[in-house]
Amino acid sequence: MRLHVVDHPLVAHKLTTLRDQRTDSATFRRLADELVTLLAYEATRDVRTEQVDIHTPVSQTTGVKLSHPRPLVVPILRAGLGMLDGMVRLLPTAEVGFLGMVRNEETLQASTYATRMPDDLSGRQVYVLDPMLATGGTLVASIKELIKRGADDVTAVVLLAAPEGVELMERELAGTPVTVVTASVDERLNEQGYIVPGLGDAGDRMYG
Ligand code: PRP
Repeated sequence: MRLHVVDHPLVAHKLTTLRDQRTDSATFRRLADELVTLLAYEATRDVRTEQVDIHTPVSQTTGVKLSHPRPLVVPILRAGLGMLDGMVRLLPTAEVGFLGMVRNEETLQASTYATRMPDDLSGRQVYVLDPMLATGGTLVASIKELIKRGADDVTAVVLLAAPEGVELMERELAGTPVTVVTASVDERLNEQGYIVPGLGDAGDRMYG
């Protein structure tokens, strides 16, 4: 597994406002959307392309277009939905699948309540969207499902990560073609499984 923490002043600026408890839901959704687009720019650095020949109004040249099969973007419901527009703004031709996962707030175990995506992901690049990588249970279960369906290149775009979640992913997904792109790896998890300093519960702040 590869971890990429995006170090950019605009990312840090938007993340700071997201963390601020005074930021209201409407502003939170707008900033999360903008932040995702910045992270998506980094996350798609290895998106597969193929060479094409084109005519400009002046001459001919060789360029690139996205390869087939097209990438799949999978927001993890609920909070990942707030990241979908920001991602597909950069990948408008991507297919979109959905995974509904919820974490039991006492046991911190993740479980799946909805799945809507292609059965066969052989040879597909997949971008998974979830704002928080806390214990890591949700992302590990999601990515294992994608790999089981044949995905051969998975990038998770997360706004914030905890070191505990990164460790679990490294342990559970060792040797798999997985990259995590995030704006920050914070200090730790607290007893309730919240990222510290974090930004609270992303789902509640977006939709609560
Ligand atoms: C939150 C968050 C992640 C998950 C992270 O979702 O959006 O999906 O918890 O936790 P983990 O890394 O410890 O598994 P939640 O279960 O609150 O659902 P929601 O998105 O519907 O609010």
